[in-house]
Amino acid sequence: MTIKTALMNVLVAAVRKAARGLVRDFGELEHLQVSMKGPGDFVTSADLRTEKILIEELKKVRPDFAFLTEESGEIPGSGDCRWIIDPIDGTKNFLHAVPYFCISVGVEKTLEGGKSDLIAGVVYNPISDELFMAEKSQGAFLNDRRIRVSTRKELPECLLATGIPHQITPTFEPRMKQMDVIARKSTGVRCPGAGALDLAYVAAGRYDGFWYHDLNPWDMAAGIVLIREAGGKASGIGGEVALPRGGSILATNGLIHAPLGALLTEV
Ligand code: IPD
Ligand code: CA
Ligand code: CA
Repeated sequence: MTIKTALMNVLVAAVRKAARGLVRDFGELEHLQVSMKGPGDFVTSADLRTEKILIEELKKVRPDFAFLTEESGEIPGSGDCRWIIDPIDGTKNFLHAVPYFCISVGVEKTLEGGKSDLIAGVVYNPISDELFMAEKSQGAFLNDRRIRVSTRKELPECLLATGIPHQITPTFEPRMKQMDVIARKSTGVRCPGAGALDLAYVAAGRYDGFWYHDLNPWDMAAGIVLIREAGGKASGIGGEVALPRGGSILATNGLIHAPLGALLTEV
């Protein structure tokens, strides 16, 4: 069982094509040229090449769609949909040969009145060959298996994920404090280093929840669709609706959303 719509077919084909080069690069990391974009933020030739393939392939099949991508920014289109792309989420893991990274592509549709909605998303880890996909009203899948969020209700039995900001940022101390509080109230907090993949793991019921303060739209767009279609809940940490504008996100199985949100806002 899986999603066989025309939109999902073109999206999955583009992601799989772009992923081939990434698998090759992962095996030859020492040959990659690495340049500094800012502290803790590397751009590799792999990021740029993967994004280029995604844009080329998706433009061929949906020429009217716009793009919002991490490396190229906004590319306008003539229609009401846009692709929101992170070519490699988890770049530091990739550079260190840690096989926890993904390609993430979400689809956002503009509705009447100027509002928008996320209608589809794919998160793909090419090393584990795990492809997470979701489309509005079609459910969420991991490869050919339907996925759902976990059913754990009590925080002390919940495994959670978050990200640690770079140590030079002014938010480092308060974020660490938050992690301290949550780690004492849950069964554990993981910081695996790829926000989009963390969201997919919540959708698959592996983590019970995920929070983060400073994510970009391309880190969360696909993951939000996965969470919703897997029966979970995604919002800003203060409870506001988390459409992919960037900023904070709290994504859970729904059952622990209120208590976890309350703890996070108290700290
Ligand atoms: C990063 C990852 C990481 C999160 C960072 C993001 P990148 O994306 O999602 O988990 O902690 O804030 O920037 O740079 O690997 O695409
Ligand atoms: Ca990212
Ligand atoms: Ca990236």
